[in-house]
Amino acid sequence: MTHRMRWIGAAALVTTASLAGAIVTPRRAGAYERRPAELASSNAGGVLATLNAARTFEGKKFFADLGTNGRTCASCHRPGQAWSITPSEVTQRFDRTAGLDPIFRANDGSNCAGADLTTVERRRRAFSALLTKGLIRVALDVPANAEFEIVSVDDPYRCGSPPTSASMYRRPLPTTNLSFLSAVMWDGRASVPGRAIREDLVAQAIDATTQHAQGPAPSEAELTDIVDFELGLVTAQVRDQVAGSLTSQGARGGPATLTRQPFCIGINDPLGMRPPVPGACLAAPRQLDPAVFTLFGKWLESASPDQQAIARGEAIFNKRPFTIDNVPGLNGDSTDPVRRPIVSGTCTVCHDTPNAGNHSVAMALNIGITAPSRRTADLPLYTLRNRATGALVQTTDPGRAMVTGRWRDISKFKGPILRGLAARPPYFHDGSAATLADVVAFYDTRFHLRLSEREKSDLIAFLRAL
Ligand code: HEC
Ligand code: HEC
Repeated sequence: MTHRMRWIGAAALVTTASLAGAIVTPRRAGAYERRPAELASSNAGGVLATLNAARTFEGKKFFADLGTNGRTCASCHRPGQAWSITPSEVTQRFDRTAGLDPIFRANDGSNCAGADLTTVERRRRAFSALLTKGLIRVALDVPANAEFEIVSVDDPYRCGSPPTSASMYRRPLPTTNLSFLSAVMWDGRASVPGRAIREDLVAQAIDATTQHAQGPAPSEAELTDIVDFELGLVTAQVRDQVAGSLTSQGARGGPATLTRQPFCIGINDPLGMRPPVPGACLAAPRQLDPAVFTLFGKWLESASPDQQAIARGEAIFNKRPFTIDNVPGLNGDSTDPVRRPIVSGTCTVCHDTPNAGNHSVAMALNIGITAPSRRTADLPLYTLRNRATGALVQTTDPGRAMVTGRWRDISKFKGPILRGLAARPPYFHDGSAATLADVVAFYDTRFHLRLSEREKSDLIAFLRAL
């Protein structure tokens, strides 16, 4: 039996086991029995590496032109940018091709649909959000029977789209480390309750091909190739520009340890939000284990101050207490699982998947990224009205509410995976944090952490090493 067949065999076995609700510890190890293909690339923080269970990138449908506009999945999910894109790489592509690379298409690459692309200068203007923040336009209709309507939009691009739909400008999520997902897409719209993540990814790949690449739906075999490939990728920073190898002296950074990291949906979430989905853990843990990242603990005693800083940053992420209050989806309104402020909260209350850092349950949250007070001139501002109460709310992106139609889901997003961060600025769904320092500054303000300067730089050093 070839390795590839064995791998698929193992994946099929695991699917059955996880349908039964078992904790699927052997799943990740199985995929990497033999030395997988490795791909490394440098970035401002050091070196990023991806392990590929398929052992080859050759001939993979992920890199094939499946549509009509020249795009491939890799147009927006680049290995060197941790399988997302960055403004600097996209700008280089623009300059190299005079704005003709297939990512520069007016269906969703440009600020407005159908933009005028007849000259280089017009193209530069049309793709400004993509060039400056790596944002792709996601257009969705307000769901039928939604509890709200869009009453107005302050649209910097004057696209003139009808108030029954919204254009949202979002960062491509990385297509790696996907076996840790509990929800697919920023707003979870590719996830259907009760359906396995793998099936969500199949549905997502169909949508990506028909929408981003404007092609016919891929064949069964192409879909299997794309989804197996994505699920076999594991990515992390392996080398830090100042601290050196992230796998030396007892450290467990880099992608190899991540291939052995067990996961089932809800693995570290005590809030009982776990729907009976395939791939969920058998039972909820009694309480959150705040020690979510266990990569750099050994470096607390390192002789290198740079290694020590990363280890201290990991401890801050896991344990530094602050009050988490007014987070719709968690403890912001009467339907939420927690009814009071979480006084000794940590980053890991939401980023609770061991060593991956995403939310281990599909729990969309509004942490305040879309607030009108944070709005910048390049984002639209929507005013939504509650059809029952007449209440008004303003947001730069209605988030999950555009999927469910529910008023209480406005501006909610999933907690994403936190690996390979150094390779893929800017951060948050709208790219509003240009650097990891901006991310930390956001949290410091939003949740009144009052981090000291040293705590901030330690936390940044840690995030950069993921
Ligand atoms: C034009 C750019 C573009 C192209 C081409 C593209 N994507 Fe994406 N992808 C995005 C954006 C933007 C998002 C996030 C959108 C959102 O969440 O609303 C995304 C999200 C995803 C996700 C969700 C990951 C997660 O953590 O939830 C997967 C999986 C994915 N893409 C796979 C693919 C595949 C497979 C292809 C090719 C068939 C593809 N993409 C082509 C831009 C693109
Ligand atoms: C109340 C839940 C919650 C807490 C607490 C929390 N986060 Fe987040 N985090 C989220 C959500 C939700 C997102 C996605 C937000 C968005 O883009 O709309 C996010 C996004 C991020 C991102 C951006 C990832 C990317 O791919 O762009 C980073 C980095 C991050 N968080 C780090 C932290 C750190 C560091 C802390 C502690 C200081 C922290 N988070 C505390 C929920 C939380």
